[in-house]
Amino acid sequence: MEKRFKRTTVTSALPYANGPVHIGHLAGVYVPADIYVRYLRLKGEDVLFIGGSDEHGVPVTIRAKKEGCTPQDVVDRYHTIIKNAFAEFGISFDVYSRTTSKTHHALASDFFKKLYENGKFVELESEQFYDEGANQFLSDRNIKGQCPRCHAEGAYGDQCEKCGSTLSPDELINPVNALTGNSLVKRPTKHWYLPLNDYQQWLEQWILGDHKEWRSNVYGQCKSWLDAGLKPRAVTRDLEWGIPVPVEGAEGKVLYVWFDAPIGYISNTKELCDAHPEKGSWETWWKDPETRLVHFIGKDNIVFHCIVFPTMLKAEGSYILPDNVPSNEFLNLEGDKISTSRNWAVWLHEYLVDFPGKQDVLRYVLTANAPETKDNDFTWKDFQARNNNELVAVYGNFVNRALQLTQKYYNGIVPPIGELTVYDEETLAEFKDIKEKVENLLNNFKFRDAQKEAMNLARIGNKYIADTEPWKVIKTDPERVKTIIHVSLQLTANLAIAFEPFLPFSSAKLREMLNVEKLEWAKLGAMDLLSAGHQLGTPSLLFEKIEDATIEAQVEKLLATKEANKEAEYKANPIKPTVSFEDFEKLDIRVGTVLECENVPKMKKLLKFKIADGLENRTIVSGIAQHYTPEELVGKQVLFIANLAPRQFKNGLVSEGMILSAENWDGSLSVTSLLKEVKPGSEVK
Ligand code: MF3
Ligand code: ZN
Repeated sequence: MEKRFKRTTVTSALPYANGPVHIGHLAGVYVPADIYVRYLRLKGEDVLFIGGSDEHGVPVTIRAKKEGCTPQDVVDRYHTIIKNAFAEFGISFDVYSRTTSKTHHALASDFFKKLYENGKFVELESEQFYDEGANQFLSDRNIKGQCPRCHAEGAYGDQCEKCGSTLSPDELINPVNALTGNSLVKRPTKHWYLPLNDYQQWLEQWILGDHKEWRSNVYGQCKSWLDAGLKPRAVTRDLEWGIPVPVEGAEGKVLYVWFDAPIGYISNTKELCDAHPEKGSWETWWKDPETRLVHFIGKDNIVFHCIVFPTMLKAEGSYILPDNVPSNEFLNLEGDKISTSRNWAVWLHEYLVDFPGKQDVLRYVLTANAPETKDNDFTWKDFQARNNNELVAVYGNFVNRALQLTQKYYNGIVPPIGELTVYDEETLAEFKDIKEKVENLLNNFKFRDAQKEAMNLARIGNKYIADTEPWKVIKTDPERVKTIIHVSLQLTANLAIAFEPFLPFSSAKLREMLNVEKLEWAKLGAMDLLSAGHQLGTPSLLFEKIEDATIEAQVEKLLATKEANKEAEYKANPIKPTVSFEDFEKLDIRVGTVLECENVPKMKKLLKFKIADGLENRTIVSGIAQHYTPEELVGKQVLFIANLAPRQFKNGLVSEGMILSAENWDGSLSVTSLLKEVKPGSEVK
């Protein structure tokens, strides 16, 4: 049974202010949340869209240390960058604040105090890693060691980035301070825990019983957490950066970032409502059972928003709980996981410079390819194809034809509708239920499919113009053309409405071309949006083609990143099993002088050598043609294995030995040579 709500509080995960935001953030959280909120507003519903930066947590302190500045400097810088990027992309927050605000510190602190005073926490002492040199406890992220699963060095206390395993610092082999390499000891420390286990039954009923309608990825993740059995979770940390634990005897401790950050949704609402009394009281948005609460998040946030935060709210007692938590999966980039530390991302602030005015293109592509049910891949080719084949060739093309023909035949004045043919009726029938369809999909958080429906409207329009051929009919039946153009213009106006939540910039532009200030969502599907005699504005292109060169430049940029990462991450292969000296002596390694060297016809990789070996000279064929030209090698001395069994190539060539080369990190080969010249045939021992 659908509950009746009076208003909706929409939150979007507060991004960490320790780096800029990228397309993964936009696709996973902010574009869908923005579509949803714009849609509700268009329907005239009461809604608040809450955003902000998550400014506490260990990663901020690590970044500050690395950059030699304060944590506050770090979050000040990124908060501004992130806030601006969202604004540029039209993410229409009612408030975008931050967890370092006074309001938030006070509210989060009070929240903790209330739970504390009502006995909602358990106090536990445990042994934690302590750095005696630095005089501090270390957070999981600040501890490094060997991964117990894949044995890679440099795994963090919370996760191994090599094999992806979730870890605890206790599992690491040889844990040390990640920043300084100092060794660590264990020391007892006291923390406050939220006893999630006490809420297990209640959560099972509330999620697994009462919220079967949640997305299957969300429901499934909750189920596996619940099936595994919940444990108490520490909500405080030994750290300097954060909100001090407001309890006596808690000096040097702060609230765990995942305790304070979601409360940030509430603080930011309060900040907004305090400054704008017309929005009502913040408590209405968080405590009135007739308010619907929806959290937009990425999949790594599911447990916090479906289990931990609801438990906090329930323990506090006066808050509502989320009605839905539409979480997306991840967006990958050109086949690889997006990674801030490896610079594998399309950064929003860079996109804005490289593609000025094309915010809607990215919004469109990210929604068309949204990772709603599984991880998806962003590729620049797909970006280009969707722009050129869909936005330009379908939506833009239809609108442009309708507007240009109106200019040409009627000086930009909407012609009267005239008499409809059966074909017109059929076309209209095809999109009569567009509103119902789009609404149904949006109500169920199916943004991809909803946007497809909007695009389908443009397809219908294109087909209509192509089939009716007004440019031909104008010569034989000008009255009929009035009808065709009239219908096309109504379709165009409908497109402006249908795309409004998805592509707000384009809809605004289109409204300007139509010379209308406002189009009601309620009228989506109607055929009387523009009246006969209405003067349209000046038509211009809604979208532009994106050229190959532009896309190639972006791909190049990523390739350069990939190369840089490969080089930075190069690690020598492990040493092979020990061999005896006798085994080594079996190899006859000699010095040879290159007498001749030439390419081998039809064998791109091969070079054929004539090598002076101090005896009878020999032929060696070597697969290094892609790394050296023959001229570079003639006259040089090289090392070769002289007693390797001869090897015959497909074309009959026989190689009498092997020239030794070193393989570099990128696969390039470097032929071995000598520091001093020696006689050809000298033995290497
Ligand atoms: N900063 C977190 C992340 O980027 C999200 C915090 S959401 C909040 O994963 F609810 F805690 F605010
Ligand atoms: Zn590992």
